[in-house]
Amino acid sequence: MKFTIRLVGALWLAALLVLGAFAVVQVREEKARLVVDLERRAVLLGEGLREAIEPQVARGSTAGVERILKKLGKPQRGIAVYDRLATLMVATPDLTPILPPAVPEVTEALTGGEVHRGFREFKGSREYVYAAPLLREDRPVGVLLVVLDAGHLVTAEWELWRYNAVRFLVLAVVLTLIALAVVRASITGPMAKLSAWTKELRAGRPAPPPEVPDANLFGPLALEVSRLAGSFHKAQAAAEQEAALRLAGETIWTEERLKQFVNLRLAGRSLVVVSNREPVSHVRHGGRIQAHTPASGLVTAMEPMMRACGGVWVAHGSGDADRETADDRGRLGLPEDDPRYTLRRVWLTKEQEQGYYYGFANEGLWPLCHIVHTRPVFRPSDFAHYLEVNRKFAATVLEEVEKEESPLVLIQDYHFALLPSLVKAERPDARVAIFWHIPWPNFEAFGICPWQRELLLGMLGADLIGFHTQYHCNNFLETVERAIEARIDWEHFSVLRGEHETLVKPFPISVAPEFVDEPPATSRAGLLQELGISAEFLGVGVERVDYTKGLPERFRALRWFFERYPEYRERVVFVQLAAPSRSTIPRYQELQREVEDTIREVNQTLQTRSWRPIIYLNRHYEHREIWTYYRHADFCMVTSLHDGMNLVAKEFVSVRDDDDGVLILSRFTGAARELRDALLVNPYDIAETAEAIRTAVEMAPEERAARMARMRRTVREHNIYQWAGLLLSELTRIPLEVAGTRDA
Ligand code: F6P
Repeated sequence: MKFTIRLVGALWLAALLVLGAFAVVQVREEKARLVVDLERRAVLLGEGLREAIEPQVARGSTAGVERILKKLGKPQRGIAVYDRLATLMVATPDLTPILPPAVPEVTEALTGGEVHRGFREFKGSREYVYAAPLLREDRPVGVLLVVLDAGHLVTAEWELWRYNAVRFLVLAVVLTLIALAVVRASITGPMAKLSAWTKELRAGRPAPPPEVPDANLFGPLALEVSRLAGSFHKAQAAAEQEAALRLAGETIWTEERLKQFVNLRLAGRSLVVVSNREPVSHVRHGGRIQAHTPASGLVTAMEPMMRACGGVWVAHGSGDADRETADDRGRLGLPEDDPRYTLRRVWLTKEQEQGYYYGFANEGLWPLCHIVHTRPVFRPSDFAHYLEVNRKFAATVLEEVEKEESPLVLIQDYHFALLPSLVKAERPDARVAIFWHIPWPNFEAFGICPWQRELLLGMLGADLIGFHTQYHCNNFLETVERAIEARIDWEHFSVLRGEHETLVKPFPISVAPEFVDEPPATSRAGLLQELGISAEFLGVGVERVDYTKGLPERFRALRWFFERYPEYRERVVFVQLAAPSRSTIPRYQELQREVEDTIREVNQTLQTRSWRPIIYLNRHYEHREIWTYYRHADFCMVTSLHDGMNLVAKEFVSVRDDDDGVLILSRFTGAARELRDALLVNPYDIAETAEAIRTAVEMAPEERAARMARMRRTVREHNIYQWAGLLLSELTRIPLEVAGTRDA
């Protein structure tokens, strides 16, 4: 109410000031116009009489003057004639009773010989006086005084003020009504809706924000309130979950538990994570900057961990709008709406990115570690860039931990094999771990790398090396044993070189139980409608276009399935979400063509007028969009030819809180060791994979539910918080052997 009174008061004041200023000007102009009018009339009268009267006055003939004035009839107001001594000779009858004995203008006209004019009060009535000298041979012989009634000037002025006052009142009333209507429609109404909505949120009943007329005004507020409610409910849910777990005596790792663990175990020591891929890249799209979550299992896994642990995440700033969304040191807080950790972007030149990322990491190490029959390419110039970039990242990490006591550095993946020893050489008090997200091949396979020694020595700078499986740990230890001089402790799975010991342990990575913050409300029917299809069974695949993922094999298996079981034609549709990846590398371009050709071939052979067996969606998808596909699919296919873990399999399981859906999973993935209730296949075996598709669509609902429930339990228990907790726990337990260490 106070606001409305203030607003209306302000409007009134504004109207008063504007109208008042205009009224003053208007009154002044009207007065001037009336004075000019009076003067004109006085001049006309005076000049008309002067010629006739002048000779009579000069002769001193009062009778002559009287005669002339009589001829005038009854002039408006009056005329008086004075002689050279300013003595009244004659005056018209209506003027005589009010005329004062002396009129200053008359004397002035006589002495100055010029016309004098002005306003005078004659017995309470306001008059305009015009005194013109009567001349003879240019010498004043008398004065002609014209007196006109000026009372209407005052009346006119009052009229104008009254008129403007009424105008002001009308305007004030209209403004008040309009202001009240606007305040009600745009402020108090929406505020009432927003407050009813926040009440709902507070009561734990999630509701969409109300429609408000001015999105610019209330949109940001609604967004903030939504976020606040989201955080509040998450905290509440976390507390309830913790309490429930405690009651049930379960020891499942949650975000909250990891937070507590980090607080206790790290005791203020800082955590730095390093990866090539950044958790969010900013890209320009149609003139606007958009935030993208890269299609990367590493990001899916590490992001929730960073939210829980905080710290700094050092990564390559690869988005074309990354520089302008970070500060001048390349830092920004993430998540952007509720920062919990810091992303530190590292800038690389095109040549560095080409040599280090596309070249050595992805044309060399990637095919070297994945046994999928793509020949690795090793170029000395690429390795030189790899070394250069590892040094650059080392410098950034060292800068980030410069003032920190005994920091923890968690290095990710094959892009940074040299980084552990580079960091450790400068900061022996840091605890350094490297986690290798891809498989480690056997000694013979790895031995073809010309820089195997440098890579192994680089990695062994770490205190802890992690792989997804014990099998990969064993391969690594065997490679070290045969390639360099070191002692392997097979009992504790560690490598000893001089004084330094490196533990080598499996930590099967996983996902957070909540794949997206808030699942979208798209229904299955809505999804099918969006795709423009109808399907009794929906299959889905979610991958980067990569030759390790077994995409052509998968599409051939689908063809086999439809040929073998034609009754499923027009009933099963398979949707492939395929994020473009590393597309400047020739092998990836070749694969892209192969994938498209295979899909075209399958579709052209089998499709009917109303059905296409495979829908290929070749673009980047955000997690929220992918959730919808996972959630409504009858089966999900993960048919990698070789994969360290494969988190798509775990993502699919984690979103199926309806305990439905079948997972077809390659036995050559790390995930196959944990998800034993998936339909395990050899992706090279087209017939076996086709058979798994048939089993999936024909599986009884009870069996589907039982399998999914068991897999969900596995993913729930072995989640990313557990992964991070176990890894950090192991790392913080390792005693540092260096002399002069700041922390033991
Ligand atoms: O497993 C290796 C890996 O780095 C994953 O972490 C991730 O899923 C994938 O490769 C992403 O590749 P890139 O970062 O090259 O797009």
